[in-house]
Amino acid sequence: MTETTITTPSWVQALDKYVASKPIEDVAADLGLKPEEIIMLVANENPNGMSSKVKEAVATAALNLNRYPDADAYHLQKAIAERYGVSQDWVVIGSGSSELLGLAAETVLSEGTTAIYPQYSFSLYPMVARLCGAETIEIPSTGDFNADLDAMADAVDERTRLIFLTNPNNPTGTYLAEKDILDFLDKIPPTVMVLFDEAYVEFLEPALRCDSMEIVRLHPNVMVARTFSKAYGLAGARVGYGIAQPGLLSMLNRVRHPFNVNDLSQIAALAALQDQEFVEKTLEVNRKGI
Ligand SMILES: Cc1ncc(COP(=O)(O)O)c(C=O)c1O
Repeated sequence: MTETTITTPSWVQALDKYVASKPIEDVAADLGLKPEEIIMLVANENPNGMSSKVKEAVATAALNLNRYPDADAYHLQKAIAERYGVSQDWVVIGSGSSELLGLAAETVLSEGTTAIYPQYSFSLYPMVARLCGAETIEIPSTGDFNADLDAMADAVDERTRLIFLTNPNNPTGTYLAEKDILDFLDKIPPTVMVLFDEAYVEFLEPALRCDSMEIVRLHPNVMVARTFSKAYGLAGARVGYGIAQPGLLSMLNRVRHPFNVNDLSQIAALAALQDQEFVEKTLEVNRKGI
């Protein structure tokens, strides 16, 4: 392999490429198995397939792809806003919630700034932060593998611009109590963005979930990020959404590429949002562990 002669920032040179798992067919061939004999757990995908309503919606939409998609995913954005009782300018749609994590980083981070995240959390947090030239600070977890909120708050200084917090957490499966989250947020300066990642929130029993919409109403520096990849079974469509106050989103939307979510994915997510029966079935299967 020849080395490139192009000039790249030092922080790009220091990054490693994200290593995704091999296609299941290749893994099966390596192991001398059939693909259907393998249970893939690596990406927390939905084992129940996807909603049949999504299949119908996408099949129809696939016949009409001559137009660009709506640049803001208008219909999906509206449906999510209605579901959570916020106005549409509180909602941003991303190509997976991963894109939203990256956009949050690009919006607030640069060389000389830092991002804080808990140990044993999603590997993308330090990646997207370092990509912006920022330094990352990993805060050791508590003895029971949860985020150490006190230590995270103590680590904030004048260089801090972004904090990642996950609830419930991947990969530990731990969750944070609402009171602890509220106490934590009260300690964070309003100049620091908090990305509250709720990719798995549907899997928490309702009594254990915190009122994230109230958190966003109280804290103009917080963005909640959720995804259609897990409970809704749409990992392949790459759709996630963020909810935050319009001031924060007006900055983030300057960084976001228009047309970032393709037409089929917008339509798939809208149909998935309207099929709560599928989500309930997923949660039931997950609860039983079958
Ligand atoms: C904690 C957490 N956040 C975010 C994501 C990103 O999901 P997606 O980009 O598919 O929405 C994942 C994916 O595994 C995750 O585990």
